[in-house]
Amino acid sequence: MSDLPVPSHLLPDNASVGSDGALWVGGLPLLDLAEEFGTPLFVYDEDHLRARCREAVAAFGPAVAYASKAFLCLAMARLAYDEGMAIDVATGGELFVALRAGVPASRCILHGNNKSIDELAMAIEAGIGRIVVDSFDEFDRLDALAARGLPAPRISIRITPGIEAHTHEFVRTGQEDSKFGFGWHSGAAAEAVARAQASSSVSLVGLHMHIGSQVFVAENFAAAIEVVAPLARELDLPELCIGGGLGVAYVEDEEAPTLSQWATVVKNACRDAGVPGRVTAEPGRSIVASAGMTLYRVGTIKEIPGVRTYVAVDGGMSDNPRPVLYGSGYEAFLPRSPGAARPRRVRVVGKHCESGDLLVRKAKVPEDLAVGDILATPVTGAYGHSMGSNYNKVPRPAVVFVAGGSARLVVRRETTEDLIRLDVPVA
Ligand SMILES: Cc1ncc(COP(=O)(O)O)c(C=O)c1O
Repeated sequence: MSDLPVPSHLLPDNASVGSDGALWVGGLPLLDLAEEFGTPLFVYDEDHLRARCREAVAAFGPAVAYASKAFLCLAMARLAYDEGMAIDVATGGELFVALRAGVPASRCILHGNNKSIDELAMAIEAGIGRIVVDSFDEFDRLDALAARGLPAPRISIRITPGIEAHTHEFVRTGQEDSKFGFGWHSGAAAEAVARAQASSSVSLVGLHMHIGSQVFVAENFAAAIEVVAPLARELDLPELCIGGGLGVAYVEDEEAPTLSQWATVVKNACRDAGVPGRVTAEPGRSIVASAGMTLYRVGTIKEIPGVRTYVAVDGGMSDNPRPVLYGSGYEAFLPRSPGAARPRRVRVVGKHCESGDLLVRKAKVPEDLAVGDILATPVTGAYGHSMGSNYNKVPRPAVVFVAGGSARLVVRRETTEDLIRLDVPVA
């Protein structure tokens, strides 16, 4: 582990060191943003988001979808749509947000291993672009909706190709033993295709797979394509979607393929395997992760001589549960001195009533880090805000988009009143 400053490839595209020596993003000093909007605060480089959406569309074409589970709010759904992406939604709730953002239903793709009949009805009535069917029970529900007179939706079939992606067990989804999709080796996938082809309740337009998340080895996708290629050739359907899952670098020694490099591997694999029709994808993390960072204020520093130093900030597992859920690593730095060496080793923890509430297990920070400092964790743009909670009744942070020297609030900070807005008042 080096003592070097945080590497620039973990920062948003439009991060720069200002004349004051502090870090600026999108033409604004991070310290001013923390002052104006409070902490914890999610800051996104809007031009970085737009650039990644455009890169995805250039690489895969207009059918490529943004997997909104990575980070969703009205502004993000609209941004991805405006930049030419379709929107992948995993629940009726995500669909509702996308529609409210002005995304036409025809540009939305509905996923989910347990879609309720109400979610399916809502999607079909809205004119959903595609439903990715995940189970035989879902086929039964689609039959029931057709019997009620709803039109037959265009569907893809989600196949689990039996590929073990090299990633964390909880985000691995391509293996046969998975709650998602129709197993390839069990014959369930072939059975699902036969059922779809024989059904007038649905119109089969494609095959779908998603082998997992945070996959760094693009060849893992090629291996999955090889598995489904014979079926794709036989069916000659208009579309094969390889899902999302492209990894991103979170810490200094990690490197990940770009969206364009990933698309090249995937498209070459499809061409070599003779897959007909268009190849598409639904990246989430690789669109938003490094566009975002979280700003916290340091509240307490507890030194246990000979053991460790705990640096506690004003957020924690409620705004970033990934370290607790997956043991994920992050870097930390001080926006007031982004070029400073980071020789001090500390554990960055949150303010929740849990010993496990940690944000950075082994953080490298500058020697002079002190109570009151603004501390930043980069690459928190994916699965931070979207997986956040109100645990301990800590209000959720605000989210700002910055670009060209101005900041726009896209999600306001929760207030304490928000914490009881669903409660039935007591007499
Ligand atoms: C079906 C599907 N597509 C796309 C994604 C997005 O994956 P990522 O954010 O890793 O790109 C996921 C993530 O869970 C998924 O389940």
